[in-house]
Amino acid sequence: MKKQKLRTGIVGSGFSASFHVEALRRVYGVEVEITGVYSPRREHREAFGKKNDIEVADTLEALIDTSDVVHICVPPAAHEPVAVQALEADKTVIIEKPFTGYFGPAKGKAAEESVDEARGEAGFSGDTFPREQGLEEALGSVRRLLAAEQRSKGQIFYAENWVYAPAVQKEREIIEKTGAQILWMHGEESHSGSHSQYYGIWSHSGGGSMIGKGVHPLTAALYLKKVEGRMRGGGPIRPQSVSARTHAITRSENFIDKGHQRTTYTDIEDFAAIHVVFEDGTFADIFASELVLGGVHNWIEVSANNHRGICNINPNTAFQTYNPREEYFNDIYVVEKTGTKQGWAFTSPDEDWFTGYQHEMEAFYRAAAEGQPVEADSMLAGDTIAVVYAGYLSAERKGAEVEVTRV
Ligand SMILES: NC(=O)c1ccc[n+]([C@@H]2O[C@H](COP(=O)([O-])OP(=O)(O)OC[C@H]3O[C@@H](n4cnc5c(N)ncnc54)[C@H](O)[C@@H]3O)[C@@H](O)[C@H]2O)c1
Repeated sequence: MKKQKLRTGIVGSGFSASFHVEALRRVYGVEVEITGVYSPRREHREAFGKKNDIEVADTLEALIDTSDVVHICVPPAAHEPVAVQALEADKTVIIEKPFTGYFGPAKGKAAEESVDEARGEAGFSGDTFPREQGLEEALGSVRRLLAAEQRSKGQIFYAENWVYAPAVQKEREIIEKTGAQILWMHGEESHSGSHSQYYGIWSHSGGGSMIGKGVHPLTAALYLKKVEGRMRGGGPIRPQSVSARTHAITRSENFIDKGHQRTTYTDIEDFAAIHVVFEDGTFADIFASELVLGGVHNWIEVSANNHRGICNINPNTAFQTYNPREEYFNDIYVVEKTGTKQGWAFTSPDEDWFTGYQHEMEAFYRAAAEGQPVEADSMLAGDTIAVVYAGYLSAERKGAEVEVTRV
């Protein structure tokens, strides 16, 4: 492949911006020049720039101007406005999960300084707004993003790393080469609670466990049915209906808090179960929660008519350690969100590799350089949001089945 240089701008200077930069530095197929970082607070963007040896842009416009590819590493409520602005400037955008959503009347207002005020602001509560309205507004946001992509010379790449995780890509290969039919998938993303200050406030995050965590295994499931349909020479096998339940255990008066789970969620659920039926009648069950101890619990299992595959995203058993004393491992990164480093641990030798971050970035940059489509495209992203918000409507109806709208 002919090497080409692409200029990259990072929007956001928090957790995801950091792992995007790490992954960008592992891209080998295309030459990447990180031209700058922008986030609303000067001191944060300057600290990020200094730490990562990246120039700092003082406005979003300036960052977009100097970039070919814009990374959207900002809270979900800001995904649409930032992405549309970059697409209108004919730039390709890499949008973090979740693609978009419904954030109440303060939609799009996600500047860092507004986080505290957003708690209970404008009378909006994620606990009480009508889910039918949430579904319509979320679909509206998806449609605006797809329309902006249509008008643009740029593309939307949906940064769902599970699609590119080596275990999921190996499952793709098995489906494609053996002509497998997937009968049932079940998957989960859970841990003891997010640390992002935006997580837990519906007006910033667009929901709780279902959207914040569930989208990872859900998108992987939608992707694998897309692969199966494509392998048969047809279009993707798309989601048709969903039944879901949500619960807010850490906010319930019966919860006995021993201090191991985060308990500061404002107006979101901390558990979700989603049952998705595909148009061929096969199905997937997805669990997502903030209730599970022992580090992240991220996996998807595929039961096909000719094989079974268990994709352990994290943890996995590539390397295990036994540590008799906590302090021995003070300087050792073990595995995401584990509560202790003492005793036996699933110490990950390269967590970013297993989660697919570098594979995702390599695929995106090759596609951007060649103007090729990607596996995690805007249709997959849009389907994920259509399922999630149909799921919230179903949960409001205590699990009644809701049709998934085609976007
Ligand atoms: N794929 C994954 O594994 C993964 C993991 C964590 C987070 N994420 C996603 O990444 C996104 C960001 O999450 P995070 O954990 O990095 O959050 P964070 O709180 O660590 O950082 C958010 C950054 O966005 C900036 N910001 C806020 N409002 C903005 C606006 N209107 N315009 C520009 N910048 C703005 C903030 O200043 C901050 O720098 C979310 O969509 C989240 O779901 C994905």
